[in-house]
This record gives sequence, C-alpha cells and structure tokens, in this order.
Amino acid sequence: MSRVEPVVSVLLDPTHAATSLVEDVRRGLRAHPLRLPPKWLYDDEGSRLFDEITRLPEYYPTRAERAILEEYADEIVAACDATTLVELGSGTSEKTLLLLDAFTRAEQLRRFVPVDVSEGTLRAAAVSLSERYPGLAVEAVVGDFTLHLGRLPRGDRRMIAFLGSTIGNFYVEERGAFLGVLGDSLEPGEWLLLGTDLVKEADRLVAAYDDAAGVTEAFVRNMLRVLNRELGADFDPDGFSYAPMWDGRMERMDLRLRAEMPQQVRIPGAGLDLDLPVGEELHIEISTKFRLEGIAAELDAAGFDVVRTCTDPDGDFAVTLARRR
Ligand code: SAH
Ligand code: TRP
Repeated sequence: MSRVEPVVSVLLDPTHAATSLVEDVRRGLRAHPLRLPPKWLYDDEGSRLFDEITRLPEYYPTRAERAILEEYADEIVAACDATTLVELGSGTSEKTLLLLDAFTRAEQLRRFVPVDVSEGTLRAAAVSLSERYPGLAVEAVVGDFTLHLGRLPRGDRRMIAFLGSTIGNFYVEERGAFLGVLGDSLEPGEWLLLGTDLVKEADRLVAAYDDAAGVTEAFVRNMLRVLNRELGADFDPDGFSYAPMWDGRMERMDLRLRAEMPQQVRIPGAGLDLDLPVGEELHIEISTKFRLEGIAAELDAAGFDVVRTCTDPDGDFAVTLARRR
C-alpha cells in the first residue's frame, strides 16, 4: 500500500491565542472564584509536562486505560462498524495505537482524525501515525473540541474517541452541554468511546495529582507562565502554593494555586489588574471521578446507548463504548 501524507487542517485562527485567551481570562478573572480554562495548560511546555505525568508512578490513569485497551481493543472494534476514528484531545495518541492496531487487524478503518489544540504535538503525532499506518488517511485537525465539533469530517461511519478522562476536566454543567453537542454532532448509529477515571480512595487520587517529583505541580504552575508570556502578565509563580484537594462531595480533584503573599498582578494584554490577598485561590483545573451508573445515565441523557463497558482488573478506570440512538 502506498504511504499517504498526513493532512493537517487548522481551525484555530492565527489570532486564537490573542483573542480567545483574552476573552477567557477576562471572563474567568473578573468572576469569583477566579477560574482559568484548562486548554491553556497545553502550550508546548505544558504538553511536554503532561507527557511526563503519564509516566509517573503515582499517575495510574494512563496505565489503567492502556491495560483496558490492550485487553479489549479487538472486541471494541468487532462490536462497532466505524470506518473513521476521530480522537478528541489526542495529544501524542500513544494509547490510541492499540485501537488503531486492532482496526488494522480487522481491516476496518479508512481514516484517522486526531483533534487537538496543541499544534506542535499534533503535527508530530500525525507524521509518525502516517508512517506507522501506510494506507490510513490521517487528517489531523488543530482545533478546539469545545468549539469545532460541528466542523469534523462526516460521511463515513465515525467513532469519536475521547480518552484520558479529559471529560472529567469539564465542570458538571459544561460536561452535560458538551455531551449534548457531541450527541448532536453524530448521526444515529455512530459511535463514542469514552475513557473515564473512577472514584477510589482519596489517598491514591491525591497522590496522582501531587507526585513526589513535582511534575504535576510544574504543569499546573505553567498556566501562570502562559499568561505571563501571552498577555505580558507579571504573575510571580513562586508567590503561589499548590495543594491539590479531593472534594468528596463533588467527587473531583480540585487543582488550585493559592497566593501565599499579597500580590498585585498586572495583565496588560487583557486590560486587567488583580489585587490578590493572601489566601486567594486561582482555580486551574478539576478532574472529576466517575461511577459506572453515572456514566451510563449521562450518556443516556445525551442520546447514547451504552453497548459495552470495559474496566481494568483493579477497577480504577473505565472505557465505555456507546452508540448514538
Ligand atoms: N488523549 C491523551 C491526552 C490527554 S491530555 C491521553 O489520554 O493521554 C488532554 C489533551 O487535550 C491535550 O493534548 C490537550 O492539548 C488537549 N486539549 C485540551 N483542551 C482542548 C480543547 N479545548 N480542544 C482540543 N484539545 C484540547
Ligand atoms: N485528564 C487528565 C486528568 O484529569 C488531565 C490531567 C492529568 C491534569 N494531570 C493533571 C490536569 C494535573 C491538571 C493537573 O487526570
């Protein structure tokens, strides 16, 4: 089979960082609590740190999800009739190789569409995927899955994969809205493969977001460096402490930075000045943990039927195959 060069479409306009970041920062930092949207964590440095997170001994989700795909990828492929695989927030697509290998064994897949905001990571992944799967059309999309679901390729039978429990990084109301849009963007009979981290003992959860090597802390703090660089802000990253918390009521990890000294921060690019008293917190990210009944109910509400739920032997993580009604 001849090798097909990857196609990379850029849906983010060149002023994306300038305009969308300014809007997000204005909205998030004028409200209370102060909140920043997570997609800005993934500049080149953030993507590199995230990749390091996935290899940390404390960060079990990547290993658990990989174990599930190792065990069940062939069954998942056999259970669906997809010929295009779309992956949202694909990053390096490292675990996705297990699915792509299974699709290749079944000679079922024509096209792979990885979608990510992190352009450098995505371009590198697209090149290595095209080399690994000659004959597979790799059509990468540099885009934002909160904005661009309506612009994904159509026409084949699609499966959308959303792995890594990235769904857990939405707040609950955003998650419902996102799943609704996802359902609306698929035709009846098309497929969703959703990776979700499951509720477990608090100490393991906290350790996964507070690793001994400090990589996760550096990843969270990187948000301030992005604002300093892109908006000319003068956050002093050392003036903040990182103390991830398990919120047992909301069943989510809450990742915040707390001002340890009073800070006056200028953010000229967003026309904002902040006066942060000691103890003021910046809400950087949440990571919601799920229960199998909850996943099924949320998918049902968004128009999906659960076809198959796969978990790892320790019951840490779930990968759910669902079909648009
Ligand atoms: N799927 C990979 C990576 C998960 S990290 C895994 O399971 O390991 C989350 C990924 O989503 C990052 O690559 C990040 O760049 C991307 N991302 C975050 N917000 C996004 C958004 N709004 N639109 C598109 N991609 C996004
Ligand atoms: N989806 C991943 C998760 O919720 C993203 C992630 C891993 C993350 N480690 C993090 C987000 C640390 C913020 C901070 O586990």
